[in-house]
Amino acid sequence: VAAAVLVVRHRMRNSGKWAKAMDILREFEGKCGTPISKLRQVADAMTVEMHAGLASDGGSKLKMLISYVDNLPTGDETGIFYALDLGGTNFRVLRVKLGEVENVKKEFQEVSIPPNLMTGKCEDLFDFIAGELEKFVATEGEEMQIPAGTQRELGFTFSFPVKQSSIAGGTLVRWTKGFNIEDAVGQDIVEELTKAMERVRLDMRVSALVNDTVGTLAGGRYSDPNVIAAVILGTGTNAAYVERANAIPKWQGLLPKSGEMVINMEWGNFRSSHLPLTEYDESLDNDSLNPGEQIYEKMISGMYLGEIVRRVLLKMAEEAEFFGDTVPSKLEKPFILRTPDMSAMHHDSTPDLKVVATKLKDILEISNTSLKMRKVIVELCEIVATRGARLSAAGIIGILKKTGRDTLKKGEENQKSVIAMDGGLFEHYTKFRNSMQNTMNELLGEEASRNIIIKLSNDGSGLGAALLAASHSQYREYEST
Ligand code: GLC
Repeated sequence: VAAAVLVVRHRMRNSGKWAKAMDILREFEGKCGTPISKLRQVADAMTVEMHAGLASDGGSKLKMLISYVDNLPTGDETGIFYALDLGGTNFRVLRVKLGEVENVKKEFQEVSIPPNLMTGKCEDLFDFIAGELEKFVATEGEEMQIPAGTQRELGFTFSFPVKQSSIAGGTLVRWTKGFNIEDAVGQDIVEELTKAMERVRLDMRVSALVNDTVGTLAGGRYSDPNVIAAVILGTGTNAAYVERANAIPKWQGLLPKSGEMVINMEWGNFRSSHLPLTEYDESLDNDSLNPGEQIYEKMISGMYLGEIVRRVLLKMAEEAEFFGDTVPSKLEKPFILRTPDMSAMHHDSTPDLKVVATKLKDILEISNTSLKMRKVIVELCEIVATRGARLSAAGIIGILKKTGRDTLKKGEENQKSVIAMDGGLFEHYTKFRNSMQNTMNELLGEEASRNIIIKLSNDGSGLGAALLAASHSQYREYEST
């Protein structure tokens, strides 16, 4: 009898803990809710902030940065150009031979950035980049040889907020994602790169400095004239779109001939009382390199989704002994659970959730989980990914509203609007991508959604930067008018 009492007590205690863990999960789920009504408010708030950011510098959390790109590629660009893509944990160097749209020749190399350079000195980062670029230039073969006597030209994709002073110059507003190199803030990024190239005696001219969203937009437009915006869903998140130049009150310059200007929204810094923020988002933000900034990005993008999951699991471990009576020490380590691992768990289709078990064991050193526990973890991934996907869909609706493309207009029933999309989160996290697409359809309605197309534009930003270098080349022959 005594033994039976012990067993019953043990079970009661365990079921009490389970109930507590489920309370934590349900409370989190409740706070993450993104019903359509809320998404509409988010989309409207995005449109309002876009107006405010275009009206004046500092007018909104949305910087709405002027890119100085007032002409997008037409398909007539020719020549051999270099591109450099810096913005995540890797950077890429490319050599692109432009000719026919269908037949662009690309050579590239990807290099991972030593983590200490991401938070060190400006000069060290640029020296490293220039060094890698120089090595890559040395591999130039017969077919992609720059004609003798011409200077090599480069399109530089720099995926951070930059206040441009021209198409080929601008100062860093601040770092985002995992970068934090203090002495670079406020510096002209092109000057820094140029100085570093001179230090390694690399004779190359930066002809265009672009954000990855702007590069993706240019790359997308090259092969599809219906591309009107670009969105990145990767380590970070952001969007750029084509605005009417006379709808940018803060623009002081001459109106461009095209009447258009590409705007880098920096939407990662969007914030609104309508965003479904939780205590986990708040603590993630507090502990981040950039507290108070990039709140929308911190709810959506690849750098953070796995970290949100980790934080909820940690709370379940600490307050409800979800993983037994001790808190697994690995679970206390920030950013240990990466979004690709979260995605693998979320997509686990084995009947006993083997992938989840393996990830828990390999990453967090947690073994002996029950199937019931693993199901809870999958559910948690679903909650976090769904919230991010639905919020990003709302952001896109904000852009479509601002540009008047969210509804079908008389006489323009066949006008397609294409959004060029890039980033590992969108490309590889299938459930995120599907949820985003479904939410867009839901928000637009059946008719309008037929004309809005999301198109994966894989590494469009490298190509786009090369194209913009081509159209701003020092050798370009301007037609005299
Ligand atoms: C961050 C950067 C932004 C970039 C985005 C995607 O939000 O601030 O410039 O476009 O990440 O890489």
